[in-house]
Formats: sequence, structure tokens, C-alpha cells
Amino acid sequence: MSLAPWRSRLTRALHRNRSLRESRYFQLATVTPEGTPANRTVVFRGFRDNTNQLQIVTDARSEKISDLQQHPQAEICWYFTKSREQFRLRGNVCLITAQSASFSSLRQTLWQQLSDNARLQFVWPHPKAERTQGEDAFTNSFPSQEIPPDTFVVLLFFPQQVDYLLLKGNPQNRYLYWLDEAENWSVKEVNP
Ligand SMILES: Cc1cc2nc3c(=O)[nH]c(=O)nc-3n(C[C@H](O)[C@H](O)[C@H](O)COP(=O)(O)O)c2cc1C
Repeated sequence: MSLAPWRSRLTRALHRNRSLRESRYFQLATVTPEGTPANRTVVFRGFRDNTNQLQIVTDARSEKISDLQQHPQAEICWYFTKSREQFRLRGNVCLITAQSASFSSLRQTLWQQLSDNARLQFVWPHPKAERTQGEDAFTNSFPSQEIPPDTFVVLLFFPQQVDYLLLKGNPQNRYLYWLDEAENWSVKEVNP
């Protein structure tokens, strides 16, 4: 698959903002089973090799999982403060769990790339359950660096539409990119 035309803008934004740690964070919005919006910050874990798919890692017990099982549609909102660019990516999310038949080696690779402290969170007590346990429950022994636990899930985000806004300039600059039925990307410049 050829790389989408918005990829070069995003790659440049990541490069220009590389001194800012938070430029690797974006907001991922989902729809709850009740139909209400839910939004949270996650870490960008790179693109899947030679594709336009964004990788995110998360806990199987988190609410975004049940949101995505019911509604695979999601939106990423990503603002780069130094270059003053916003990317809003709309698309579908594919869940790679311990039970998934495909992408198990990708899941393992992303697990191995995490820091020890990031891996530890996957064996903490259940997220969002009432905090009744002492700190010992959170300083457990570190899980295997090789084999991901069942709580470790990779989200593959498949963009279908990208709304790009560059604040620099008066008027500002805005472009829409969309994927057509033949899986080709188109682009048009629109009013900001
Ligand atoms: C800077 C930052 C980075 C985060 N990165 C992740 C991440 O990569 N994956 C993740 O599941 N949660 C991450 N979180 C926590 C989420 O924002 C959220 O609190 C958690 O995933 C539970 O969300 P949910 O109940 O809506 O699923 C991060 C939070 C912050 C503030």
C-alpha cells in the first residue's frame, strides 16, 4: 500500500516537534456502548511497517476496549504546539488481543519495546476499580519482558479521513484528505 499524502506532513510535524515529549501524545475519542463520547490521551507507538496504520497500546480491562468492540469508529486529535498544526484522523480501530489469530508477532514486538515501568501497569489491579489495596499491589514483580500478559492489547488505527489545520498564516490553511472506495487518497484545500 502506498503511503497516504498526509503522512509527509505528519512525519514533518513529528520531526519539528521532536524536542517536546508531549508531541508523541494524542487524544483518542471513542463512542461508548450507550452512544456517548469518551476521550483520553494515549501514546503514539509508531506506524505499522509500510502502512498508514497507527499503533497504540492499551489495557484489555480499560473502557475504550468495550467502546471499540461495540463501535470500531474512533477519532484522533493531535496538536503540535511548536509548529501549530492540528491533525484530526477519523477511522476504524482493529483490536489485537491475546486471542487474535493475526498480528501476534506485532503484539509481542510492541510489548518488548515497552519500558519495565510501562509493562508493570499491565499487572496492576483492575483499572477504575475502587482503590482498596495498598501500594504493594502496584509494585508487584515485573512481568515477563518476552511474553505479553492477556491484559496487553494493541490498537491498530486505520485512518479514513484526515482534517489538517495549519494555524500559521492569515487566513490559516486547512486541507481534507479522504480515502475513496478504491482505497485511494484524495485531497482538497478548504476554508479554515
Ligand atoms: C500522557 C498520557 C499518556 C497516556 N498513554 C496511554 C496509552 O498509551 N495507552 C492507554 O491505554 N492509556 C494511556 N493513558 C491513560 C489514558 O488517558 C486513560 O486514562 C486510560 O487509558 C483509561 O481510559 P479508558 O477508561 O477510557 O479506556 C495516558 C495518559 C496520559 C496523561
